[in-house]
Amino acid sequence: MKIACIGAGYVGGPTMAMIALKCPHIEVVVLDINEERINAWNSDTLPIYEPGLLEVVQAARGRNLFFSTDTSKHISEADIVFVSVNTPTKTSGIGAGKAADLTYWEGAARMIASNSKSSKIIVEKSTVPVKTAEAIGKVLSRNCSDPSVQFEILSNPEFLAEGTAIQDLMKPDRVLIGGSDTPSGRAAIKALKEVYENWIPSERVLTCNLWSAELAKLTANAFLAQRISSINAISALCEETGADVQQVAHAIGTDSRIGNKFLNASVGFGGSCFQKDILNLCYVCETVGLKEVAEYWYQVVSMNDHQKNRFVERVIGSMFNSVKNKKVAIFGFAFKKDTGDTRETPAIDVCKGLIQDGAICAIYDPEVSPEMIFRDMSTPKFEWDKPNYTKSASRFLENVLIGSSAEDAVKGAHAICVLTEWDRFKDYDYKAMYEQMSKPAFVFDGRNILDHDKLREIGFIVYALGKPLDPFLQKVY
Ligand SMILES: NC(=O)c1ccc[n+]([C@@H]2O[C@H](COP(=O)([O-])OP(=O)(O)OC[C@H]3O[C@@H](n4cnc5c(N)ncnc54)[C@H](O)[C@@H]3O)[C@@H](O)[C@H]2O)c1
Repeated sequence: MKIACIGAGYVGGPTMAMIALKCPHIEVVVLDINEERINAWNSDTLPIYEPGLLEVVQAARGRNLFFSTDTSKHISEADIVFVSVNTPTKTSGIGAGKAADLTYWEGAARMIASNSKSSKIIVEKSTVPVKTAEAIGKVLSRNCSDPSVQFEILSNPEFLAEGTAIQDLMKPDRVLIGGSDTPSGRAAIKALKEVYENWIPSERVLTCNLWSAELAKLTANAFLAQRISSINAISALCEETGADVQQVAHAIGTDSRIGNKFLNASVGFGGSCFQKDILNLCYVCETVGLKEVAEYWYQVVSMNDHQKNRFVERVIGSMFNSVKNKKVAIFGFAFKKDTGDTRETPAIDVCKGLIQDGAICAIYDPEVSPEMIFRDMSTPKFEWDKPNYTKSASRFLENVLIGSSAEDAVKGAHAICVLTEWDRFKDYDYKAMYEQMSKPAFVFDGRNILDHDKLREIGFIVYALGKPLDPFLQKVY
């Protein structure tokens, strides 16, 4: 059997590497139009940072795992073609700012159709609006010149989380496969199920109809993001009432009906998926006339925006209502720890908010390059989800400095904002940092990961998100 995957990104790369690792009898080729990315996958400096990924790639690469830009050859030889291309939010036209832009998916489908001389199973790995399989089926069948070629489309959404992708792929809670309830649909589901059963217990490979699988992915992300927005909403109330959001989260998380995961209040969720998928869900609801349902889910995104704005306001308000020409050290730019991914990271909005008020942001993240930071800070919203984004020119920006280390970022700074929960941030010598800073020196812990009592002992004014406020932090109006 031969598998090809179109799209060598955060999903295509790790998922295919795991299939290749666990199925040495299957040849797996990951394809991309971005040559730079493919070259990186073929080197030991992979294009994405993910703990354990390099070891998995190194174990299978050259054996049965290959990365290539030769799309036509490998598509034509494949029995199963995964499609893992970008499905960004539309930036113009009908549905701009909400609907999914299926340009790249459609492009991949046309490429499959024109290069197919034998029947194939096409697997939707990208997150797509419900009913995409129907549209893609039409593109495939109308663009393939050989009438004997049949395409069977399956939806196999990916549930991995960045930062723990390898663990998630090794031992997923479940794998979901949606397909048509026809003899060929059932045969295709069986074929894909057998691939996963090489390492995943069969009871964890769930099967369902196509539309349920497509909608389950959007729903899963909507529910996860909703939990973050819910606890963030409560964090705002905690600050006003003297309650402590971590104590509230612990108290509710011990209720087995609620569970304790995803209850950390933070400066907001980020990542390429949550916002995009909720907006997409809202758009689907609106287009079928479910305005109230769309509005309900939209609140999850607007609460996230509110949390980021609230954080910026707290920083500026606490620093005597002016951050003009004040240096603010930003600890962490990735949207969460253990990844170098900055797509929709809250750090972009927080830094832009501070810079708008005249602050100089000195940004340090152990896994994000200066080029990436400049690119993110100078690019319009949603532009990052275009295949050639990483090639876009980087610019140097006023009021953005890059810290070569955290110590470098804090020199002369008035405040530290913790925006990513990197473990190493807990172990810094904050006493030494305090000495290097302008006074009063503030810490705004947007992730609640630091030892706040210890910081206060050193002399810092500490903002702990969702906790009773230090009198010093009262806003200046
Ligand atoms: N990142 C995640 O954690 C995650 C998790 C689950 C699902 N998803 C979904 O998976 C999909 C891909 O996400 P990602 O994070 O891997 O994106 P990505 O931007 O990292 O990768 C997509 C890749 O597809 C390539 N591409 C686009 N059009 C192509 C074409 N016609 N031919 C060949 N290559 C093409 C791009 O060059 C890019 O390298 C999206 O729909 C996303 O919503 C992402």
